[in-house]
Amino acid sequence: MASLTMPDPAELDRLDVSRGSLWEANAWRPLFARLRAEEPVSFCPQSAFGPYWSITRYDDIVAVEGDAQTYSSSWEHGGIVIFDMKDTGVQLRMFIAMDDPEHAEKRKAIAPAVTPTAMAALAGAIRQRTADLLDTLPEGEVFDWVHTVSIPLTTAMIATLFDFPWDERHKLAPWSDWCAKIDIGPDPVLNAEREGHIFEMAARFRELYDERKAQPVRPDLLSMMAHADSFGEMDEQRFIGAIALLLVGGNDTTRNSMSGMIERITLFPEAWAQVKADPARLAGGAATETIRLQTPIAHMRRTATRDVELHGKTIRKGDKVVLWYNSGNRDETVFPDADRWDPERENSRRHLSFGYGIHRCLGARLAELQLTTLIEEMAKRDMDVKLAGEIERLASCFTNGYEHIPVTMSRSH
Ligand code: HEM
Repeated sequence: MASLTMPDPAELDRLDVSRGSLWEANAWRPLFARLRAEEPVSFCPQSAFGPYWSITRYDDIVAVEGDAQTYSSSWEHGGIVIFDMKDTGVQLRMFIAMDDPEHAEKRKAIAPAVTPTAMAALAGAIRQRTADLLDTLPEGEVFDWVHTVSIPLTTAMIATLFDFPWDERHKLAPWSDWCAKIDIGPDPVLNAEREGHIFEMAARFRELYDERKAQPVRPDLLSMMAHADSFGEMDEQRFIGAIALLLVGGNDTTRNSMSGMIERITLFPEAWAQVKADPARLAGGAATETIRLQTPIAHMRRTATRDVELHGKTIRKGDKVVLWYNSGNRDETVFPDADRWDPERENSRRHLSFGYGIHRCLGARLAELQLTTLIEEMAKRDMDVKLAGEIERLASCFTNGYEHIPVTMSRSH
C-alpha cells in the first residue's frame, strides 16, 4: 500500500472525487479538470471506499487498461469497482471481474451472440418497440423522461434481446438490480433475499434456454447462445454469471444513456435541430457523443499486481487504481471543446465509455444501435423536448445517471 499521510480537509476535497454528493450535484467537472491539469495520477489517502489512485487523463487510462497483467480486474483482488467486490456475500462470477486466461475463455463464449449480423437481426424489433413507446408519450404535459421512457424502453430492449416473455418483462429490472447489488456487505437477510432473486432469475432463464435449444435458431441472444458451440460446455455457475452480466451490463447503462441524450438535447437545441434535419447523417454521431459525454459508467477499477511507476508516482502492489472515464472523455488534448455535444465531432468514437482493451464492452454495438434508433425515431416525429423542472441525479461515482428528468414534449407528427 502507498504510504498514508493524512491531508487536510481541503486537500481531501480536492483529491476525493468519489464523494456521492459531487455526482448528485453534478459538480465533478472542475475537480477532474484540475486533476488532469495538475496531478493526472493522484493518490487519495482516505475516502468512503478507502485509499485509491485516480487516473484522469485519456492516454494514461488507455495505458493502464492496455496492461492487464499489471492492473488486474479479478474479483479476488477486489474487482472492477471502487468498493471491494470480495466483501460481498453471494458471489456472481462475472467474467468482467476476471483476468485472462479465464476471462478470455468466457468472453469468447458470449461474443457470437453480439456480432454485427446478430445485431442486424434484432434491429427491426428494436425499432418497433421504440416507435410504439414514443407514440404513447403525452403532448404538452409534464412527465418524467426517466420513468416514462428510459426505464420502460430499456426493459423492452432487454426483453427483446432475450425474446423474454413480454408479459413477464417487469421481472427483468428488479433481477438486474439485485444482481448489481454487490455492496450490501455481510447482512444475512439482504444476502438471502438477493440469492432468492438470483436463483429465480437463473431458473427462468434456464427454462427458456432449454426451450430455445430444442427449437431452430432464431434472432434473440438466448437462442443464439443456445446454438453457439462455445456455450455447450458451460456449467450452471458460468451460465448464471453470463446471463447476469448481459442483464446488468445493458440495464443502467442503456437507461442512463437514453436519459443523458435528453439532457444534451435540452442543452444544445441547435445541434438537435441539425440532427432532426438530417438524421441519416447525424443520428449515429449524436448517439456516440451522448455516450461520450454521459459516460454511464464513470469508472472501472483495477488493482496493481506489482509496484509500478506512472507519471513519476509509485503505485504499490495491492493499490486500488481508479480509471475515470468521465474525465478521459473530457480530455481536451483528445476532444477539443470537450463539454460540447457535437454530433459532427470526427473522433467521437474514440471515447472511453465502453472501456478499452481486453474488457472493452461487448454490448457497444447494441448500445449504439438502441440509442441511434431512439434518436432516429424522435427525429422522424420532429420531437422537441424541454426541461420542465430540476434534474435529479444519482449520488454515485460508478453509475453516472439520473433519478428524474421532468420534461414536456411536442411533435409535429
Ligand atoms: C463491459 C460500458 C452496454 C455487456 C463494459 C465495460 C464498460 C461498459 C465500461 C468495461 C470495459 C473495460 O473494463 O474496459 C457500457 C456502456 C453501455 C454498455 C456505457 C451503454 C451505453 C452494454 C450492453 C451489454 C453490455 C447493452 C449487453 C447486452 C457488457 C459485457 C461486458 C461489458 C458482457 C464485459 C466485457 C469483458 O469483461 O470482456 N461495458 N456497456 N454492455 N459490457 Fe457494457
